[in-house]
Amino acid sequence: MMRGMSETPPLTSIADETAYAEAVQLAVDASAAYYGDGTSTLDDDAYDRLVRGIEAYEAGHPDQVLPSSPTGKVAGGAVVGDVPHTVPMLSLDNVFGPDQLAAWAASLERRLDHPVTAWSVEAKLDGLAVSARYRRGRLVQLVTRGDGQAGEDVSHSIGTIVGLPERLAEPVTVELRGEVMMTTAQFADACAKRQAHDGTTFANPRSAAAGTLRTRDRPYVCELTFFGYGALPLPPGDDSPLAGRLRELPHSQIMEWVAGQGVQTTAVTPVAGVLVADLEAVRARVEEIAAARAGLDFGIDGIVIKCDLAADQAAAGFSSRAPRWAVAYKLPATEKITKLLAVEWNTGRTGIIAPRAVLEPVELDGSVVTYATLHNAADIARRGLMLGDSVTVYKAGDVIPRVEAPVVHLRTGDERPIDIPRVCPSCGDAIDATQERWRCVRGRACRAIASIEYAVGRDQLDIEGLAVNRIQQMLDAGLIADFADLFYLTRDQLLALDRMGETSTDNLLAALERAKAQPLSRVFCALGVRGTGRSMSRRIAAHFGTMDAIRAADAAAIQQVEGIGPEKAPVVVAELVELDALIDKLIKAGVNMTQPGVVRPPADEAADEAAGEAGGEAGEPLGLPLAGMSVVVTGTMTGPLAALSRNEVNELVERAGGKASSGVSAKTSLVVAGDKAGSKRTKAESLGVRVATPEEFAGLVAAFL
Ligand code: IVH
Repeated sequence: MMRGMSETPPLTSIADETAYAEAVQLAVDASAAYYGDGTSTLDDDAYDRLVRGIEAYEAGHPDQVLPSSPTGKVAGGAVVGDVPHTVPMLSLDNVFGPDQLAAWAASLERRLDHPVTAWSVEAKLDGLAVSARYRRGRLVQLVTRGDGQAGEDVSHSIGTIVGLPERLAEPVTVELRGEVMMTTAQFADACAKRQAHDGTTFANPRSAAAGTLRTRDRPYVCELTFFGYGALPLPPGDDSPLAGRLRELPHSQIMEWVAGQGVQTTAVTPVAGVLVADLEAVRARVEEIAAARAGLDFGIDGIVIKCDLAADQAAAGFSSRAPRWAVAYKLPATEKITKLLAVEWNTGRTGIIAPRAVLEPVELDGSVVTYATLHNAADIARRGLMLGDSVTVYKAGDVIPRVEAPVVHLRTGDERPIDIPRVCPSCGDAIDATQERWRCVRGRACRAIASIEYAVGRDQLDIEGLAVNRIQQMLDAGLIADFADLFYLTRDQLLALDRMGETSTDNLLAALERAKAQPLSRVFCALGVRGTGRSMSRRIAAHFGTMDAIRAADAAAIQQVEGIGPEKAPVVVAELVELDALIDKLIKAGVNMTQPGVVRPPADEAADEAAGEAGGEAGEPLGLPLAGMSVVVTGTMTGPLAALSRNEVNELVERAGGKASSGVSAKTSLVVAGDKAGSKRTKAESLGVRVATPEEFAGLVAAFL
């Protein structure tokens, strides 16, 4: 996650005066589009590189600097709006890693001539800055940042912005500043509305928010979200007691007051601003916010670090562009523009036919992205995507990269329509297109080989000696149609297969016998229920305890499992209905359908709730060595754990009462760090989370190995 954060991204190199003039024009156009209707001709990273290239050229050729150059100007000099700001709305200087942050803090402390002992660390919200003017508690005017000196009046948007109330709790006169943005849900809603209206979508939440905030008289209304990050006296010279308090109070206390007025701040999110005393703690919070980023339902593009005390802020002052008492710690881009080269269609093991975008490789959040999800055919049509399009691609943390939208104004006319398959790309049979997610009419049977291969895999039933070609042989011979049939194979049937001797037959039969005793978590996982993988299967098994209880659960009951939301729950229920006959066949074959260690299925609601209040799920094995602990396993395991797969170590964690998790945060209790543990180990150390070697950990859970 933090890879690349310590480096400044490379800059665009500019060879001569002509290239310089072109670069300036490109930046001016991009900035006008960005601050204008929110569209983007360049992604953030490309813009940053370009401006730094321009800066570097200007440093070497000060006589050639063009007046239109974006360097040193707020909003790159894009002038929008005619409402003067009471106090300029400035930018922030950027740092790109811990070393640059330390250098910035050191220079600030030299300027102040004392160490800063109170830092506010906040998410840098990826939206548009606005100023909200309240008179006697009523929201009377809303203004965009514009060029920082004057902005555009967007008061027509008042009433459509969640978190920015039309009335404050008290009848005060004050100017609030903050960011207007769209949450993921608001963005989806806005895209659907625009789609229905004119057949197009927005490129990303930021441009959707910009367009929405500035457009008057749209025939449809899209909701926005506000998060406040500052409050100022109104007018600036006001001498009321409130104005005095806003000048004297620390930033953190002002933000508490803002929240108390009924205005939304990040305090209600997982990335609440925190107050810390030293740079070490600043860094830890930076890491936490960066780690939380992928799970947020709104965009952040960095972390803002501010001096909390009013006296420090006043002493540090401002440059023409930015305050000296605050800095933006930029996070790697999660969205970039690249080219859509091709679309591949594949049938998965559950029979779902899904398109995949092949992209011109692009670096996003620390990894190179070449493929991205395109969801389904309807989605391609909705977004009006074409081959050869420039597209915005999003990826953060562990999420699967996805194509967000075409950048329509970058079209050249050479784009071609995307071919949509008429038959299943795997078997050539018909497509069931009644749902948005297309499926081969043969369902799971279409890719039986893939679902059986998955079911017998090491982390599911772990049936040794069943290679793909052997499974294919059995399918071809008509001996099996699904993985439950494996348990009905007779010795004679197996011996009759080519290249199957007595020893292999007996070994396979023994492996099948052992597989029948696998815990429910693995049996459930083997089913390959859509939307559930290994860790979700473990959670489901731990929650319900028996297959009977899982099958009896309706969508509401399934949703009680952590990580299953209202969208996934009905899919799981429907999948279980579809898998009914397969599950019955497994039961009849004597396959285990219970989860060891789960003492009680959650049939009794009251008992369930009591367990919940005690901090445990149904049957959480309290009193075990890892009870209540969140454990992250990383690196190559050694010693007694050397032979275990990552899933097996996670299972061990859960048998011993812990919760296996993949990301390190301040809430992590223990990190088991093997060889080449890398960034998770570093992060654990910086957060002060306990780190154990595989050997130490094996000692702790020896009874469960
Ligand atoms: S404080 C004098 N706090 O970032 C400027 N800004 O790149 C002080 N932003 O224009 C701004 N989240 O629109 C501040 N928590 C936060 C922020 C934040 C996002 C935006 C703001 C500003 C831009 C500067």
